[in-house]
Amino acid sequence: RRIVVLISGNGSNLQALIDAQSYGELGGEIVAVISNKADAYGLQRARDAGIDAVVLPHHEYENREAFDGALIKVIERHEPDLVVLAGFMRILTPMFVHRFHGRLLNIHPSLLPDYQGLNTHARVLADGCTEHGVSVHFVTEELDGGPVVMQACLRLCADDTEESIIERIHAREHLIYPIAVRWFLEGRLQLGPKGPTLDGMLL
Ligand code: GRF
Repeated sequence: RRIVVLISGNGSNLQALIDAQSYGELGGEIVAVISNKADAYGLQRARDAGIDAVVLPHHEYENREAFDGALIKVIERHEPDLVVLAGFMRILTPMFVHRFHGRLLNIHPSLLPDYQGLNTHARVLADGCTEHGVSVHFVTEELDGGPVVMQACLRLCADDTEESIIERIHAREHLIYPIAVRWFLEGRLQLGPKGPTLDGMLL
């Protein structure tokens, strides 16, 4: 089973997937890592693991459609069963999302459907929430709006700050993303016509 991972930055989630693969716990092989930013540290993580690391700078393309068209070509060259977004900071076109429908996962730092979009930690803290978390979801046309397949919660204390929660958020992401990927590659997790299913049961 073949996985392509898209990143834009640090790639700590990519690292969690690489580590899971090295323990034989990913259920597949990361065959390529693609970044729209040349200075993404995750590219180095990929190279260190002997994985093909590709840079596709979005600013070299005239518009979103042209970039996504090029991205599709690079991804399809690697014939993936699953495309994993791991901190890929680009809004994807409907064309792209349709192409990989049902085999495109993202991780988002909030308990979706709450707090879609950017700066989730600041907004959650500003609202005085006592609970926060992370979500893995299938990607659909609606930004951060696709069906959720897995979440991990985080209890917040009154004196929590963005700095104090970031590590706990990442720990949860690194815990659940490899599991979601493995369940998908094992065929347990699927996106059916009525929504995501696990072992044939609607989530
Ligand atoms: C993560 O917090 C993820 O939820 C969000 O982007 C961040 C990527 O972090 N989509 P990293 O590059 O994996 O360290």
